[in-house]
Amino acid sequence: MYTQLQQRDMESPPVNVGTLRRMKEQRVPIACLTAYDASFALLVDQGGTDLVLVGDSLGMVIQGHDTTVPVTVEDVIYHSRHVARRLRRAFLVADMPFMSYTTPEQALSNAVRLMQEGGAMMVKLEGGAGQVAIVEHLARHDIPVCAHLGLKPQSVHKIGGFRVQGRDRSVADQMLEDARALEAAGADIVLLECVPNDVGATITRALEVPVIGIGAGPDVNGQILVLYDILDITQGRKPRFVQDFMAEAGTPAAAIRAYVEAVKQRVYPAPEHCFS
Ligand code: KIV
Repeated sequence: MYTQLQQRDMESPPVNVGTLRRMKEQRVPIACLTAYDASFALLVDQGGTDLVLVGDSLGMVIQGHDTTVPVTVEDVIYHSRHVARRLRRAFLVADMPFMSYTTPEQALSNAVRLMQEGGAMMVKLEGGAGQVAIVEHLARHDIPVCAHLGLKPQSVHKIGGFRVQGRDRSVADQMLEDARALEAAGADIVLLECVPNDVGATITRALEVPVIGIGAGPDVNGQILVLYDILDITQGRKPRFVQDFMAEAGTPAAAIRAYVEAVKQRVYPAPEHCFS
């Protein structure tokens, strides 16, 4: 009963939504990574990662697709279940795949599956103002939500490629408005992908909830990268925000620790990883 009361006395108690909020208030950078299996989950947890995402990037890095579009709810549950088994401290977020949240009812039933069958503590969905009703519905049922703005990989066929979002003033203003609306609807975290530094900084200042960035500059509350990118497993041309931590570290465990340390010390992202 109330296991969390005992966990509060642990040296490194499990991260929860309150921890992430306090980290924002106290300006402690939040280090996040993706993971897709139990072995890597253990390494990222032991390496000090605060938040682990079972991202639909699994469609690209695990399944070999060109986009995240083919990923299903079953796929995310399968991977999330295995990741959940090895996390002790890190907070587990699972992605809602393409077209798994088209109505509030569908979103709720899939989010419940990700939590009950996949062990997720929060679900992440892509979208702007169009998702406000969905986020409200999930929040009303006490489902923690991360709202993903900026570059939304599930929309890649609509936007015509993976490109920086928010360079245009009107697009940046709309993103800020969307972020505020999603926070008001009950989102607990906002994730910003591939936006100029000033857009990342403005949205972070405007919100009370933590803002996690991937290619969103140094002024957000936390950073996330795809695990296989920091381990230099991903082949081909890499996004500008990717840093290979494996080359110097030598082992996956050391590379993960080096990434977490670089985020905590605000050494990552460096100017060469950012967009203007
Ligand atoms: O699917 C994923 O891994 C993500 C990250 C790139 C943030 O959404």
